Amino acid sequence: MMEPRRTRVVDVSRNSSSEDVELEVLIGKEEIRKRVKELAEEISRDYEGCERPLMVGILNGAFIFMADLVREMKIPVEIEFMRVKSYSGSDTTGKVEVLMDVNNIRGRKVVVVEDIIDTGITLSCIVRRIREKGAESVRVCALLDKPSRRVVDVKADYVGFTIPDYFVVGYGLDYNGRYRELPEIYRIRS
Ligand code: XMP
Ligand code: MG
Repeated sequence: MMEPRRTRVVDVSRNSSSEDVELEVLIGKEEIRKRVKELAEEISRDYEGCERPLMVGILNGAFIFMADLVREMKIPVEIEFMRVKSYSGSDTTGKVEVLMDVNNIRGRKVVVVEDIIDTGITLSCIVRRIREKGAESVRVCALLDKPSRRVVDVKADYVGFTIPDYFVVGYGLDYNGRYRELPEIYRIRS
């Protein structure tokens, strides 16, 4: 379980605004780089000798993770993206609106690349949809996992880091559209 070890308030001197929040480094650049490489190696081993897996990144949050992950892969892959909007609420069956879909996945070995699993609602809908479209197999690679928040029983096959119930930003993850560009993963201090 990742716990913050050092506090660093992000440099908000450029374009700072009253909306800035205090951020604390949870996972540093080098740690991310190392773990992403390990995940890529593990996935590469599992799919070695198979037909090219189709890596499906979930936008927007997974864009940086996906870019780093595929560049560490040891086998050829194909890349697609999906964009979904999830509705939070008490409905545990979950409902996601598909804003950008993935096609031509019949018979493919799909690896869903997600930034974070929280309640699991988004991921379970995505996996169900990909299965319905006739994928031969579906596995999930999530950079971050917050298992304590789970509402739907869904597990990733590959997990970068398991974290406590923190709201995190950076490395693709946002808070109201902000902080995706930060190279480390930060916890928002509350
Ligand atoms: P569920 O609850 O469906 O949610 O598993 C997954 C989606 O919720 C977003 N999410 C976060 N985004 N920091 C973020 O920037 C977080 O700590 C966080 N927790 C959940 C994210 O878009 C994910 O795909
Ligand atoms: Mg988000």
